[in-house]
Amino acid sequence: TYVVTDNCIRCKYTDCVEVCPVDCFYEGENFLVIHPDECIDCGVCEPECPAEAIKPDTEPGLDKWLKINAEYAGIWPNITVKKEPMAGAKELDGETGKFEKYFS
Ligand code: SF4
Ligand code: F3S
Repeated sequence: TYVVTDNCIRCKYTDCVEVCPVDCFYEGENFLVIHPDECIDCGVCEPECPAEAIKPDTEPGLDKWLKINAEYAGIWPNITVKKEPMAGAKELDGETGKFEKYFS
């Protein structure tokens, strides 16, 4: 599966949702997640994210993010249509430790 990671938080560009062939993105207030059981590993979304927040879970060190994606994909509503990024997305793009600071 692919997973959404830290830099999506408070950016939420949502370009990713438009290209996913199986519509497996789920939306929280300031973050999106991928449902690991629905993702078919096509990789199409990865280059579409302007924040480079989407990664294959074969990359090392993503266990925490895989857990977060799996947990919230079962709670949050599905999102399939692109919308405006969050206010201040550009300024926050690249900030470190977004999870600790902003995740909700
Ligand atoms: Fe959707 Fe493919 Fe991205 Fe998985 S890798 S979330 S199936 S676009
Ligand atoms: Fe987030 Fe990137 Fe999608 S910022 S909403 S994973 S395009």
